[in-house]
Amino acid sequence: MTTVKPTILLIHGFPQDHTLWDPQLAALSEVAHVLAPDLRGFGNSDPPKDVMPMQTFARDLCALLDERGIDRAVVCGLSMGGYVALTFLSLWPERVQALVLCNTKATADTPEAREARHETARNAKQKGVAVIARGMIGKVLSLHTRTEKPELVAQVGSMMARQSPEAVAAASLGMAERPDRMVMLPSIDVPTLVITGEADELMPITTSKVMAEAIPGAKLVVLPNAGHLSNLEAPELFNTTVRDFLASLPRA
Ligand code: MLT
Repeated sequence: MTTVKPTILLIHGFPQDHTLWDPQLAALSEVAHVLAPDLRGFGNSDPPKDVMPMQTFARDLCALLDERGIDRAVVCGLSMGGYVALTFLSLWPERVQALVLCNTKATADTPEAREARHETARNAKQKGVAVIARGMIGKVLSLHTRTEKPELVAQVGSMMARQSPEAVAAASLGMAERPDRMVMLPSIDVPTLVITGEADELMPITTSKVMAEAIPGAKLVVLPNAGHLSNLEAPELFNTTVRDFLASLPRA
């Protein structure tokens, strides 16, 4: 009997590009068709609008699936990518075979967080993205990673610093607009895996626990020594976790 591989759509976070997923490409392509696009404005993609709401990113991704003739995908997003994944699910539940929510949350921003997004957008244009990247590096990587993996620290720093100010500003303003998605979690009826890093400062473990507990049947996996970029910081464990999850899915 021939088995059809699922498609996994990997959605990067902020301010990143598709290279976030480099350690997953080969490891996951043995068991899935892997799509890892740049969200609009980031990496090598088209220029963004002034504001990029999560719906706009989700629409671009749906258009990509259409273009490739893919009906359903396992939608996997990290952090901002997770906001996009939940938005995608809310718009096209029939296109989602399963969900992987990494280092992300379902709540909307507080008024203070929204104000900080506006400041980030201003800073991106006035001071440049390198300044933002420098400020973020200590928050997105665990102390363990920063101590033990200097090449990874440099790689993540340059990935963030090379993003365009317009993309960073537009995505930041778009994230500020995103609605609360906690209410939709109990009605999610596709297999869901929640992954986080034990040292994620931006999305503390409790955030992932609350999200996983609200989604029927969701499984939570916490990766030791990893921070916010758990797929880069603990790639082997991340890949094994996702591969096992993909293997457990009912055949489409
Ligand atoms: C990300 O990694 O995508 C961001 O930290 C998400 C956010 O700022 O809420």
